[in-house]
Amino acid sequence: MGKLKAVVFDLDGVLTETSEYHYFAWKKLVNEIGIDFDREFNENLKGVSRMESFERILIHCGKQKEYTQEEKIKLAHKKNEMYKEMIKGITPNDLFKGVVELLEELGRRNIKIAIGSVSRNAPGIIKGLGIEKYIDYIVDVDKIKQGKPAPDIFLNASEVLMVKPEECIGVEDAEVGIEAIKAAGMFAVGVGTEDKMYGADIIFASPEGLNLDRILEAYELWRK
Ligand code: BG6
Ligand code: MG
Repeated sequence: MGKLKAVVFDLDGVLTETSEYHYFAWKKLVNEIGIDFDREFNENLKGVSRMESFERILIHCGKQKEYTQEEKIKLAHKKNEMYKEMIKGITPNDLFKGVVELLEELGRRNIKIAIGSVSRNAPGIIKGLGIEKYIDYIVDVDKIKQGKPAPDIFLNASEVLMVKPEECIGVEDAEVGIEAIKAAGMFAVGVGTEDKMYGADIIFASPEGLNLDRILEAYELWRK
């Protein structure tokens, strides 16, 4: 029976509630250009890169032909400035309850920890959250060919940590994230509702409910 060697965590919506700020910042930006979208549509943006998110919003609102690429880049940059303003005071208090205990327990068991986020803000957020010391590797999205749902981010983490994909667990709150973990050949832990976490090997309703013993039990059955 194979032993678990690494866990690759998504960041936004898994370790901290920054996904709400992505939502608020996009809403603020697009309201300024006279369009809007709701929380339900926002689900389609989770785990999706900054420019792709903007494209999706414009398509959703029937405005995709109204902006040049240069204008889209400028507007996406503005959204990021708004987002950074919203999260500039991020501290360890913004971690979901139980995250530090989970990271410490993984460390005690010699299980490596990576962050597999598509966010270019990830290193700064991890610093603000004060969890750098627990993290063995943060995937650098600039070095990744394809974002989620492609497996590249998760495969890069396993390669750098020198463990096989089947020796890794991925933890995600986005539909495209679960797809990416499964495409990488890893065990997928989903955080969210059953319908959104379709394909996950085990699902928890919220990040605060993540339970390592239950995860390990399910993982070991999956490895058999
Ligand atoms: C993901 C979020 O983690 O990062 C997405 O779920 C976001 O909502 C993406 O668009 C990119 O983030 P950033 O910080 O590079 O704009
Ligand atoms: Mg996420």
